[in-house]
Amino acid sequence: MGRIILTGDRPTGKLHLGHYVGSLRNRVLLQNEGDYDRMFVFIADVQALTDNADNPEKVRQNIIEVALDYLSCGLDPEKVTLFIQSQIPELHEMTQFFSNLVTVQRLQRNPTVKSEMILRGFHNMETQDDNQRGLPVGFFTYPISQAADICFCKATTVPVGEDQEPMIEQCREIVRTFNGTYKCDVLVEPSILLPSNLACRRLPGTDGKAKMSKSLGNCIYLSEDPKEMERKVKGMFTDPGHLRVEDPGKVEGNTVFTYLDAFCEDSDFPKYWPDYQNLQEVKDHYMRGGLGDMKCKKFLINVLHDRLEPIRARRHEYEQDIPEVYNILRKGSEAAREVAAQTLHEMKDAMKINYFDDASLIAEQAAKYRQ
Ligand code: TRP
Repeated sequence: MGRIILTGDRPTGKLHLGHYVGSLRNRVLLQNEGDYDRMFVFIADVQALTDNADNPEKVRQNIIEVALDYLSCGLDPEKVTLFIQSQIPELHEMTQFFSNLVTVQRLQRNPTVKSEMILRGFHNMETQDDNQRGLPVGFFTYPISQAADICFCKATTVPVGEDQEPMIEQCREIVRTFNGTYKCDVLVEPSILLPSNLACRRLPGTDGKAKMSKSLGNCIYLSEDPKEMERKVKGMFTDPGHLRVEDPGKVEGNTVFTYLDAFCEDSDFPKYWPDYQNLQEVKDHYMRGGLGDMKCKKFLINVLHDRLEPIRARRHEYEQDIPEVYNILRKGSEAAREVAAQTLHEMKDAMKINYFDDASLIAEQAAKYRQ
C-alpha cells in the first residue's frame, strides 16, 4: 500500500516557531525525501469557524497568512496539493455519515476537546454564568469532521503536534467502525508522525510557559521582523536562579536551551560560536557556571536568523504575487476535490446508498412490485 501524507492548520493567525519545529519543518523534509505517493497540506477554515462563527473575517484574512507561511517554508505546490477545507463539500457528507458512528460520550472523553472547551469558556451544560458560553455543536463534533479531513485521501501518515494525538486516535476508531459496520476496507487507519526531538513536540513560549499562543503574547512568528525577533529572544525566560555569570545554571526548563535543542545544529558552531563544538559543550559550561545568558541568547539569535532568513526571502517573493497564491490554492482544491469525490463514492457503495447506480436494487424492487 502507498504512503499518503496529510496535514493542516487552522487559519486563526500567522504560524509561529512552535508550528515550525512541531510540524512544518518535518513536512518540508518529507516532501523533499519524496518517499510517499502523495502529500496534501490544507487550511482548515471550516474547523477554524467552529469557534469563530461570529468572526469569519478573521478566518478570511488568515488564509493567505497561512498559505504564505507554507510556501515560504518551502512547501512546493508542484509536489504537494495545497487546498482549503471549505472548498471540498464532500468532506461534509463524510462528516455526516461518520457522525452516526460516534457517541456523544466518546466525544466528551476526547482530551483535546475537553481542554479546548475550558480554554474557550464553552460550558457543557446550560449555565447561568455570563462568563461561560454554551458549547456549539459544530465545535463539539469537530473531531468527526477532522476524521473526514484525514480519510478523504486515505492518508496513512499525519505529521502533527502532540496535542493532535487524541484526534488521530478518534479517527482510527471511526475508520475501524466504518469498515466494520459496512464490511469493507474503503477507509485507511492513519498513523501520527511526531517530531523525534522532544524540544520540538511542545516548544514553550518566550516566557517559558508551556505553549506558544497569540493570546499569551509569547510567540515568535515565522514572518517575524528580524529586530523584533532579537528583542523577543533577549527578553526570553532563562534560569531565574542564574543571577551572576559565575553561578551554575540549569538547562532544563531554560527556554533558551529548549530553543537551541529545537533549532541548533553542530554546523552552527564553526560559523557562530567557534569556542564550542556542539550544544552539549555549551550546556556543560552553563551548568558548571561562568557562561552568561546573553552569550547564549546571541548565539540563539544567530541560529534563528540563519533558519528564518531563507523563509523571509521566499515569503517576500510570494507576497509580490498574491493572486498566484490564491491560484495555487484553487488548483489544489480542485485536485483534492476529485480525490474526495472518489472516496465518498466508495463509501456510499459500501453503505449501498448509491441507489441510482444500483441495478440490482432497482431490479429487486421492480420484481417485488411487478403484477
Ligand atoms: N486540528 C488541527 C489544528 O488545530 C488542524 C487540522 C484540522 C488537522 N484537520 C486536520 C491536522 C487533519 C491534521 C489532519 O492544528
